[in-house]
Amino acid sequence: MPVLARIRERFAVERPLEDIRIAASLHVTPETAVLVRTLIAGGARVALCASNPLSTQDDVAAALVAHDGAEVHARRGEDMETYYRHLATVAEIGPHVTLDDGADVAALIAERPDLLEAIVGGTEDTATGVLRLRAMQAEGRLGYPVVAVNDAQVTRLFDARYGTGQSALDGVVRATNVLLAGRVVVVFGYGRVGRGIAMRARGAGAIVVVCEVDPVRAVEARMDGYEVMPAGEAAARGDVLITATGGRDVVAAEQIERLRDGAILANAGHFDVEIDLPALRAAATGPPRRVRPAVDQYELPDGRRVNLLAEGRVVNLGAAEGHPPAVMDVAAASQALSVEHLVQDRGELAPGVHDVPAAIDAALASLTLASLGIAIDGLTPDQEAYLHSWEQGT
Ligand SMILES: NC(=O)c1ccc[n+]([C@@H]2O[C@H](COP(=O)([O-])OP(=O)(O)OC[C@H]3O[C@@H](n4cnc5c(N)ncnc54)[C@H](O)[C@@H]3O)[C@@H](O)[C@H]2O)c1
Repeated sequence: MPVLARIRERFAVERPLEDIRIAASLHVTPETAVLVRTLIAGGARVALCASNPLSTQDDVAAALVAHDGAEVHARRGEDMETYYRHLATVAEIGPHVTLDDGADVAALIAERPDLLEAIVGGTEDTATGVLRLRAMQAEGRLGYPVVAVNDAQVTRLFDARYGTGQSALDGVVRATNVLLAGRVVVVFGYGRVGRGIAMRARGAGAIVVVCEVDPVRAVEARMDGYEVMPAGEAAARGDVLITATGGRDVVAAEQIERLRDGAILANAGHFDVEIDLPALRAAATGPPRRVRPAVDQYELPDGRRVNLLAEGRVVNLGAAEGHPPAVMDVAAASQALSVEHLVQDRGELAPGVHDVPAAIDAALASLTLASLGIAIDGLTPDQEAYLHSWEQGT
């Protein structure tokens, strides 16, 4: 995680988090451990619990305690009672800063006004957590500023376009060993994720077809050089069909009816409703055959076979390893810089949900470039002045 490593080096020298107490509820994974180490290097005291009872890696939790001096209250597979007890224990640190992945610490603090006085701010890592925080804010229950760290532009690029773009195709290839070159890959949805998948599929030599319901995005797909057509037509063309819409029943009975023999169906959207699984089961002659790990083959009455990957669940997690560490690196770096920002500007942000400041986005991008060994030019003072002036016209 080279981006975070650079921040850690600076934190170790500047100690911007000296004496800051942090209560964190995050997935206790190696990536989180690198973030916690970075915060500790900056001078913070960190108490960490899980944000999901199933995602804790016990060896990581133990290493953080033994080698880094973090206080960790998490155990893989803990029951919900233990989970909430651990959350309460972490809050006992009397945090200045909270780190959330799902808003559990923030929700606990809404019930503990005695803890509010010390708090300067928090960060939230997931879209679902941000929704929860906004609901708290609407009811006047969010008593401190929280930065929605995952909304940083660079983080979004890494998460959706480059992370999922690559890892969704990685899932398809690992599950099926299909050669993408020369195949027709249909991408449903030309949003952040769909653009990434389309771009990478084309790079692998596939003929890419895009299905969109938003005319602006459909135009963009066409002008980017892809074929654009309705889902029914695309279903009859596709060798590999990947949904990435956030919607439901994108591949439904009407499309299933037209699929080619051997078609591969995968979903990169969050929930397993993008491919209409009941419709697929209803169209098939019987239960599927598991022909490879993560590949279920359904047979249609006329003998055509349809291969469903990862049971219609998100394919980059179900058939590959999820995001590569480089994606987590940028997300964690966004958290570390947001914590520093909250501490430096304490008292200046109003309670409520805040975007990641543009300066942090720029810093993340610069650090990412530096970690890749890339230098870029800056504006000269004359160029800068020209861009901010109005006097000079035609
Ligand atoms: N697999 C992962 O690791 C990962 C990572 C990030 C996001 N996601 C998920 O991927 C999904 C898409 O995310 P996004 O950020 O690209 O969203 P987005 O809103 O940027 O794009 C979705 C696109 O799908 C289009 N769409 C909606 N319904 C459609 C339909 N029936 N047919 C064709 N197009 C349709 C929309 O018009 C939009 O352009 C979400 O469920 C998101 O949670 C997954």
